[in-house]
Amino acid sequence: MRNDIKEVLFSEEVINSKVKELGERISENYKDKQLLLVGVLKGSVLFTSDLMKNITIPCEVDFMAVSSYGNATESSGVVRILKDLDYSIEGKDILIVEDIIDSGTTLDYLLKYFKGRGANSVAIATLLNKSARRKVNIDVDYIGFEVPDEFIVGYGIDYAEKYRNLPFIGALKREVYEK
Ligand code: IMP
Ligand code: MG
Repeated sequence: MRNDIKEVLFSEEVINSKVKELGERISENYKDKQLLLVGVLKGSVLFTSDLMKNITIPCEVDFMAVSSYGNATESSGVVRILKDLDYSIEGKDILIVEDIIDSGTTLDYLLKYFKGRGANSVAIATLLNKSARRKVNIDVDYIGFEVPDEFIVGYGIDYAEKYRNLPFIGALKREVYEK
């Protein structure tokens, strides 16, 4: 598995300190709000669970599953909801927790979806931002790291469902996804 990685971009230690910093900022900014973290499955599971541990104010957590990729490395541009939230979001301050923003299609869709369902506010926290590939302009409130235009895996992020269990974040060798 490690052999398929071209370069380690962020080690476990670097990720941990960034997530702690994001947790502190979020705790401060949401102290008088009704924070509901919405993790986007499956890529953001590790980020969501580490972020929760670093949030020191009361908050709720829920998950959604959406699909826009299939097993390809290019977004299809069509977003489908595979699993919706368990409870109403009326009056809640939603923070969408995402692993990586690429074209922006997924988050553009989710932002509109939540705003149309009575949330008090909707913001985005993404661990990784691949801004070079953005097609839809969206405001991102919390960004962990900028990443180059490479195929990224690890720390929850997959290629064809593999590599999610790597504890670090790295760029996948091109020959792995082009063979
Ligand atoms: P977007 O809708 O194009 O912004 O794509 C967002 C989703 O595509 C992310 O939540 C990821 O699940 C997936 N994705 C985008 N770039 C990568 C990558 O480099 N590696 C793995 N998944 C990615
Ligand atoms: Mg995702």
